Amino acid sequence: MAVRVVRTRAELRGTLAGAPQPLGLVTTLGALHQGHASLIERARMENASVLVTIFVNPTQFNEPADYERYPRTEDADVELCARSGADFVFIPTVDQVYPAGSDTVVRVGALTQPLEGAARPGHFEGVTTVVAILLGLARADRAYFGQKDAQQLLVIRRMAEDLAIGTDVVACSTVREPDGLALSSRNVRLKPEERAAAPVLRRALLAARDLYGAGERDGDALRAVMIQVLASEPLANPEYVSCADPGTLQELGRIDGPALLSMAVRFGAVRLIDNEPLG
Ligand code: PAJ
Repeated sequence: MAVRVVRTRAELRGTLAGAPQPLGLVTTLGALHQGHASLIERARMENASVLVTIFVNPTQFNEPADYERYPRTEDADVELCARSGADFVFIPTVDQVYPAGSDTVVRVGALTQPLEGAARPGHFEGVTTVVAILLGLARADRAYFGQKDAQQLLVIRRMAEDLAIGTDVVACSTVREPDGLALSSRNVRLKPEERAAAPVLRRALLAARDLYGAGERDGDALRAVMIQVLASEPLANPEYVSCADPGTLQELGRIDGPALLSMAVRFGAVRLIDNEPLG
């Protein structure tokens, strides 16, 4: 069955009013790839109706150039949504999401301070504000988010619980290229030599995971091996490398429970992130 594309809040409300329950929601910035498709397919399996949102949210881009450069591929995106089993695709304009006079920002506290929060000021406020609006519009039973953006997932979980939003936040595993590079809409902007270098993120994470598997429990040792592997690739410019508590995202000294390895690395103009949970 063809997907139904809706562009206004009113159309969305009308469409969802008649939709079979439960409803699964997948929120995206567009430029959809197989990682997004895996979220939509999971939502399809677990719900009677599936809504995908495609909105390049200006408030979460801390660099205006990144917002301008963000790929916009609406026709192919709608195709992918149809193929993956979506029923409805909401593609709003900026003024449908933020109507004149809108003046509320949603800010999650401590979880938004380290890692991506420290590297990208204002980013998470933009994310939580738009996701709160989209969750409010959709009133979905479940919303699906990728482990690829591990901090985002934690922050959205916290927000949904704190604001009693009533939508279950479901975590979905990261989809990768055969060489280990996590799928990302930004990968298409890598130059060929940068694309060839980019799997070093995965190699660095796996080196630390192996060390952990061999019994290493010192956070510094795991951070050091990740830095060492990244240093073997001249095109990789690490922004941060972390071994943190997976609940609080505070850096770990001694590891005596589960941990989250994560990193952000620049290749020329393109910034990539990846992570690996331990334990
Ligand atoms: P976007 O980067 O388009 O990602 C949309 C969803 O797809 C997120 O939950 C993200 O974690 C997931 N995703 C991205 N790459 C993935 C991969 N390789 N494997 C599995 N899942 C993957 O994240 C955003 O958009 C925005 O911040 C958003 C939540 C839509 C708010 O604007």
